[in-house]
Amino acid sequence: MKKVITYGTYDFLHHGHINLLKNAKALGDYLIVGITSDEYDRSRGKIDVRQTLPERMAAVEATGLADEIIVEEYEGQKIADIQKYGVDIFTVGSDWVGQFDYLNEFCEVVYLPRTQGVSSTQIRKESNRLVRVGVLGSRNPSLRFLRECQQVNGAEAVGLYSDNAGEAAEVAEKAGVTCFASREALYEEVDAVYIIDRLDRHAALIQEALEKGKHVICEGPLFLHLDEAKSCYEYAKEHGLILLDAVKTRYFPGYRHLLLLLKSGKIGKIKDIEVSFSQKLAYVDYKNLNKYEGSLYDLGGYIFLPIIQLLGRDYEQIHIFTSRENGFDVFTKGILKYKDAVASFKAGLGVKTEGQLIITGEQGYVYVPAPWWKTDYFEIRYEDLRDTKKYFWQYEGEGFRYEIMEFLRRINNRDLSDEIFHIKDSLAITKLLEDYDNGNYSLF
Ligand code: CTP
Repeated sequence: MKKVITYGTYDFLHHGHINLLKNAKALGDYLIVGITSDEYDRSRGKIDVRQTLPERMAAVEATGLADEIIVEEYEGQKIADIQKYGVDIFTVGSDWVGQFDYLNEFCEVVYLPRTQGVSSTQIRKESNRLVRVGVLGSRNPSLRFLRECQQVNGAEAVGLYSDNAGEAAEVAEKAGVTCFASREALYEEVDAVYIIDRLDRHAALIQEALEKGKHVICEGPLFLHLDEAKSCYEYAKEHGLILLDAVKTRYFPGYRHLLLLLKSGKIGKIKDIEVSFSQKLAYVDYKNLNKYEGSLYDLGGYIFLPIIQLLGRDYEQIHIFTSRENGFDVFTKGILKYKDAVASFKAGLGVKTEGQLIITGEQGYVYVPAPWWKTDYFEIRYEDLRDTKKYFWQYEGEGFRYEIMEFLRRINNRDLSDEIFHIKDSLAITKLLEDYDNGNYSLF
C-alpha cells in the first residue's frame, strides 16, 4: 500500500484545496492530511487564519478524500510523521517548489500543480470589509502603528491628526499617509480611529469618535474615571461600535498561551504575582511633563493586566508608594492584597529596573524575563529543575498587528466571545487608576 501525506491550513476550504487533495490521493492508496494547529500557524506568523482547527478538520473530512487526518503542531514534525506512518510520498502544491526537497532523504517528494486564481488569503480579503483607520495623535508609537497597519490585510492606514501640527506632518510624511487639518476632516475619511494621547484626554476623544460613528482602539489605560469608561462602553454597545484597548501584550500569542496554561492549572493555585515595567525617559525635564504622563498613568494598562486577568477584580486592599518630581510620578510601587493571594507591581519612567513577570503558584512558578510585555519566551519551573518547561513564541513586526487584527475581527463581527471580559478588565483597571488618582489607597 502506497501512503501519501500532505499538509496545509485549509482555511475556508476551496476548490484549489480539493484539487490538491484529489491529486494527492491519486498518487497512492492511502492519504494522510496534516492540518496545522491554530497555535502552530500563529507561531509561524500566519495570524490571519479565520477558522478554528476543528472547523478546518471538519471541512477536510467532509471532502471524503482523506483516509486519515492528523494535526501538525510544530516545526520539524513532517520528518517524524513520515517515519511514524511509513509514508512513501510527501506532496504539496507547486507554490512550495524546492522548499521540501530536504524530505527526499525520507520519502519521495512531489509538487503538484497549484490551482490558479484561488487562495484562502484571497477569500479572507474578500470577506473582510476594508476598514479605513485614522490616527488621533502623533506621539510615539503613532508612526509604528501606521506602518504596521499597512501590513494588515483588511486595514487601510489613511492618515493622522494631531494638535502638534509639526510632529503630525513629520509622521504623516514618514508613513506616507495624509496629514489632516482637523479631527473633523479625519472623521470624514475613516471608519475607525486609533487614539494615542495623554490618559486624561482619552475619554473626551473616545466619546467624540464614537459619536461620529467610528470604531475606536485606544492606547491603554483607556480611562481615568469609571463613570466615563462605563458611559463609553455603553454607548459603543448601543451603537454597534467596537471600543478596544491597545495594550499590545494582551493580543500576543505568547501571552495568550501563558494565560491558557495558567488557567488550566499548570502551576496550581496562584498565590503571588510580581510585575515590573520601567522605561527610563532620556533627558526629560519633569517640570515639562504632565502629571498624567507619569509612571502608573502611562504604564498601568500593562502593569495591571496580568494581575487582573489572573487574580481577578476582587482585591481587598491597595498599598502604594509613589516618588514624584514636580508632581510627576517617577516611580510607583504597590501591592494589591487579595483574600488568598497578593500581587506587587513597579512602574517607573524615572528609574530603570528588571522588567520581569513572576507568577507563583502552589505547584510551581512562571518566569517571564524582561521585557515580559513583549512576551516571546517564558519558563514554567518546578521544585525539580528537570521538570522546567520552556516556551518560545516569535511575534511578527513590532507587535501592533495582533491588536489591529483583533480590532478588525471584532469590527467584522467575528470572535466577540471574550468581549465581556475585556470590558470588565478595563473597568477594573480604570478603578485602580481612579483610586490612585484620588489618593484612595493606603501608604506602605
Ligand atoms: N493549494 C493549491 N491551490 C491553491 C491553493 C492551495 O493547490 N489555489 C494547495 C497548497 O499548495 C497546499 C494545500 O493546498 O498544498 C493547502 O494550502 P493552504 O496553505 O492551506 O491554502 P492557501 O489557499 O494557499 O492558503 P493561504 O492563502 O493562507 O496561504
